Order: sequence, then C-alpha cells, then structure tokens
Amino acid sequence: MKGSEIRQKFLDFFAKNGHTMVPSSSLLPDDPSVLLTTAGMQQFKPYYTGAADAMRDFQALNTTSSQKCFRTSDIDEVGDDTHLTFFEMLGNFSFGGYLKEGAIRLAHEFITRELDLKISYVTIFEGSHGVPKDDESRAVWQSLDIKDIREEGINDVFWGPTGASGPCGPTTEIYCTNANGKDVEVWNLVFNQFFYAGSREELLAQTPGKALEPLKTPGVDTGMGLERLVMIAQKKRNLFETDLFAPFVELVPHELDERVRRVIVDHIRGSAFLIADGVRPSNKEVGYVLRRLLRRVFAFEELYKMPVHIIDALLHDIVHEYGETYKDLGAKADTVRAEVTAERERFMRTLKSGIKEINNLPTIDAIVAFNLYQSFGISYEIIKDVAKEKAASLVREDFEAELQKHQEKSRQGAEKKFGGHGLMFDTGELKAKDATELQKVTRLHSATHLLQASLRKVLGADVHQMGSDITVERTRFDFAFGRKMTQDELKAVEDLINSAIEKDYTVTKKLLPFDDAVKTGALYFFKEKYPETVNVYTFGTPDESEVFSREFCGGPHVTHTREIGKFRILKEEASSAGVRRIRATIEP
Ligand code: SER
Repeated sequence: MKGSEIRQKFLDFFAKNGHTMVPSSSLLPDDPSVLLTTAGMQQFKPYYTGAADAMRDFQALNTTSSQKCFRTSDIDEVGDDTHLTFFEMLGNFSFGGYLKEGAIRLAHEFITRELDLKISYVTIFEGSHGVPKDDESRAVWQSLDIKDIREEGINDVFWGPTGASGPCGPTTEIYCTNANGKDVEVWNLVFNQFFYAGSREELLAQTPGKALEPLKTPGVDTGMGLERLVMIAQKKRNLFETDLFAPFVELVPHELDERVRRVIVDHIRGSAFLIADGVRPSNKEVGYVLRRLLRRVFAFEELYKMPVHIIDALLHDIVHEYGETYKDLGAKADTVRAEVTAERERFMRTLKSGIKEINNLPTIDAIVAFNLYQSFGISYEIIKDVAKEKAASLVREDFEAELQKHQEKSRQGAEKKFGGHGLMFDTGELKAKDATELQKVTRLHSATHLLQASLRKVLGADVHQMGSDITVERTRFDFAFGRKMTQDELKAVEDLINSAIEKDYTVTKKLLPFDDAVKTGALYFFKEKYPETVNVYTFGTPDESEVFSREFCGGPHVTHTREIGKFRILKEEASSAGVRRIRATIEP
C-alpha cells in the first residue's frame, strides 16, 4: 500500500466510525505560546476545555485529521532512520464522545485488521503526580488479547499540556516491529482527563499552587506519525526507503553521503510547507527556523557543487506531490519557489566567504561560531557540516547561549539609548521621540535608500544590506563587501547621492502582493516575516523612465529627494569579517 493510500485509509476508517474529517490547521498555531504546530490536537484544544462546541462546529463529537507538524527539537537527529523536522500526524479525537475503551478498540482494529500489522507491545501509565495507575486501559488491552503490557512513567506516557496551559492526561502507546527487528512507537493514544493551568515543565516539577483539575469535556487525542507507520507497513528499514521519500532522495546525487541526502530532502520538504503557511526567512523565531533549513541545503549545494536545478526539481516534485492533499501548499507553489530562490541569492553572497573563513580557522568554539553567524549568516548546523572535526567540541547549547547573550546586549543597548520611555516612533530601524525627530530620521531613512543604491552602482550589485540603524544624528548602514573602500569610491558614492537629491526624484509607495513586489526587482533583505502584501518604495522620475532605487520598506520616507538636504559620509570602517559599516549624516 502506498503512503498516500495509508493516509486516506486512516481518514476513511475514522469517518466510517462517526468522525468528521477536519483539514490540517496551519503550521503556525493560533496559540501565541507555541512557536509551531507539533501535534494534531492543537487546533482542538478549545473543544476539550469547553470553550468551543464540537457538535456545532463538526456536527459530531469526534473528528479525524492528517495534521502538518514541525518539531525543531529533532533537527540534529535528522538523517538517521526515524527523525524528521516536518511530518504528518494522523489522529482521531473525541470531545466527550468515547473514552479509553472506544479509543483502544478503534486503534486496535485499524492496526491489526485494516493494515494487518502485529502489535508487539503497548504501554500504560504507572500512576504518579496524583493520577492513578491506568488499570482501565490495561483491562481493555487484555480483552483484545494483547499480552505484553508495560507500565511507564510521567515522562513517557503522560501527554501535555502544550503551551502555557491546557488539557493533559495519561496515554497508552502502541509499538510495532520494524524491518530491522526493532520495536518502534507507532501510535500514541492520549486520554485528556485533566486541565492544568501551567506548562508541562511546571506540571513535572509539581509547582505548588497548581493542580490537575478534571477537564470539562474529557476526551481522546491520538497521534500517529504517518511516515513511521508507512515504514512499518511497507517493511522498510528507515523512513527514507518508503515511497513517501524514496523518489525524492533519488533526485539528490548518489555520490553524496546518505545522511546528507536525507537531510536535504527533509529540509526542503519542511521549508516548502513553512513558506506555504506564510513563514519567511528571517533572523527571528520561526523565520529563523526556515532560514536555517534552507541555508543548510544551500551550503550543501555549494560544498558538493550541485547545480541549482537539482534542488529546484526536488522542490517542484515535493510541492506537486503534497499539493493535492494540502491544498494551501499547491496554491502557493509560485511563492514557495520565489522564496527559496530569493533566500539562496541572499545567502550565496556571504556563503562562499564564510566557507573560506571556516577553512582558514584552526578550531571553532561557540564564540567563533557566533561571529561566523553574525558576519556570514552561517548557522550552527552549517558550521558543523563544513568544519567537521574542527568544530567537534562545539555544541548547540553553547552556540544558542552566545546568540542569546548578544540579543540581550542589543536589547539593553536600545533601552539605554532611548531611556526606555517616551518613544513616539519605533520601527526597530528608526526611532524618534517627537515630531521634529521623526522628520529628521525620515530624511535620514530616505538617504539610506539612496546610499544602498549608490553603493551598488559604484561597487557592484553584490553589495547588499546587512543591517541599518537610524538615529536623529546619523544613519549607520552595514553592507556585505570584502575590503575597505577607497577615498575615490567614497567620494563617488557621496556625489552620486547628492546628485540624486538634486534631481529631486519623486518617492512613490506602492502596496503590492508579495510575489508582484518581488517581480519589480525591488531589494529586500533581512526583514522579518513578510505579509501577503508589501510596500515597495521607488525613488525616480514620476513616469519611472528613470529609477534610482527600489526597495521593500515599511517607510516612512520623504516625498521628494530634495527634502533630504546635503548628504555626507562621516566614516567607513569594518563592522565584522566581510561586512563594512558606513556612518553618514545630512545637513539642512
Ligand atoms: N498529542 C499526542 C502526540 O502528539 C497525541 O496526538 O503524540
């Protein structure tokens, strides 16, 4: 049976048994306390707590879904036989419909009759934290003639809550034997009997003042990773030999290490789904997750001299294959392609220098690794992949700690600079206390667009923004460029900007759908997640026969360039390896 047939069989089986089929929710959950969707039950949380009514929304007390899930916690394991970042979770849910007996009987029937698989053993909750041993589940399994029933503790067989608070309860897990003769967990049946007004960590720590309350609508939440199930059903030794992956792995050159081939397929698949759900590469939160996946693949492209059409074909086939089941992905095919290409272009400018730098370094510890990340956008995984034994002692925790230290420092710096109060305007890039300051930073902001355009005209189109920071005194602009600028070059840039100001170009703002905005050729760098529509600012003649600069930007800007005044470069210096920094000001 093909993987897609197993998915469908699952949904049909539960539909036949009184469950309403519900489409997967987005990978970006509604719950702000959770970064990404990691389980099928997340979209159903309100039905257990009584905040929503299943009968009204689904015309049934039971639902079933095949949910898009993403687990960042497994990223370092990807490439082995059983771990993935993105995966599909099959689930059936009940909100006051059936409980332990119903859930276990349905699961047993699906595994043993529908799929004709053998259950090697099951687990039940041994009892702790005030919750009794799950004798009820034991009795049901025994009645189904399951002999091997193992008791486990709260860490393994007690689910939830996800996020800041929520439903939780004991679970029973089903194990089957894979082609290597190893028992793997296939299905997790959760009995949501309780509500906990705190996080899972607080629950495990038995935080005083917080207790498990009986849940308003006790119910069932089950989760079964489709890929693992298919591996068992198809008698494969690993996930990547199933028909869900094999055709994709096949597209990656055979001479590459098997682990690398798997990582590439996993990361491209995950990236496609993230982009389709609206994530854009950035340096923060979920945008940073996406950026890391994509950049790791691009680093492999560079290291193994893979022509880009290989990844492009892989992406195309993945979107095509999954677009049928997950319509959002199918509909966003063009966006997915455009985003991957744009991120590749952004990264290729610094990647080569970054790899060269890694090759020149004797060893790489967390501080060096963080500097590589700062200067070249090279993430932890890539450093590990490229530097190999030179980075043998580098561990993720230390790298993340460096990153956090830096973020904390820049936050404190920002607060000090602005006294932490009374800001009238703050986009992160420019800040102003009052109307006068706002006018000044707006002029400096427009000047910064002219600066980037002029640098590209004088030094070449490889130059691109790495950061910018505008205060009422000056603009500070960081850009990727490999050497110190000459006096002549600085003068040429300054002159070019002042002549653009003199021409009194019109500044126009156009709100465009993201894809159309990309097509205008506008520059867009290192921004956060882009919305569906974006503003494109153009500096040029009113009929656009002459365009001096065009960038994605949130504004604000002057309406005509003469409002900027006279532009003067104060200083050009190194910011970090491969990155130059210009400070400039304007005179009235
Ligand atoms: N929420 C449980 C899990 O993710 C069962 O669906 O394993």
